[in-house]
Amino acid sequence: MKKRVAILISGRGSNMEALIRAAQDHNYPATIELVISNKDSALGLQVANSYGIDTKTVIRKNFNSDQEFDDHISNILLQVQIDIICTAGYMKILTKKFVDEWMNKIINIHPSLLPSYKGLNTHRRALEDGARVTGCTTHIVRAELDSGPIIMQESVHIEKDDDEDTLAAKVLKLEHRIFPESLQKIASGKLIIKDNIVLEN
Ligand code: GAR
Repeated sequence: MKKRVAILISGRGSNMEALIRAAQDHNYPATIELVISNKDSALGLQVANSYGIDTKTVIRKNFNSDQEFDDHISNILLQVQIDIICTAGYMKILTKKFVDEWMNKIINIHPSLLPSYKGLNTHRRALEDGARVTGCTTHIVRAELDSGPIIMQESVHIEKDDDEDTLAAKVLKLEHRIFPESLQKIASGKLIIKDNIVLEN
């Protein structure tokens, strides 16, 4: 049985598109059932629609609290019988209750080699530090920001002439490779999570 996946986005949705394209393969162990955005301007919504994927927009200001907002999203995901959630450029911190409800079922992509450079402006901070290497990480989501068991990482060298844009482009290419591969590993049950470590089954 293929796993039913929802993708949460806030913007352009290029990682979302990489997941959608991977899931078009008949042998891929997951199907993308729904894309939810917290921004009605998110370009990714149009991209998802162009692939025939259902989309919903849920706006924080229509709710009294982060908890009510997340509860609403959680209910939608339950109705659609979602097994796995991928956060792909979803720029909103999930509440602890939401993460607990979906424990070990949320996968995030982050544009740094975690645990370095949690949060925003990862490439700028790596350049400012004179780091020689950076990259991206997929991980199982825990309540603390950008933390949780690491699924995959890929690295790139930071060259002398790199700026924030060139670095972001190089890293994004890797993101588009490791996110679909990570979802594949999780959806096919190839991984087990022991304490804070992801192991091959
Ligand atoms: C990606 O680089 C993703 O790793 C990053 O936002 C970008 C979204 O691009 N996510 C975060 O910074 C979350 N902490 P996309 O919308 O084209 O996938």
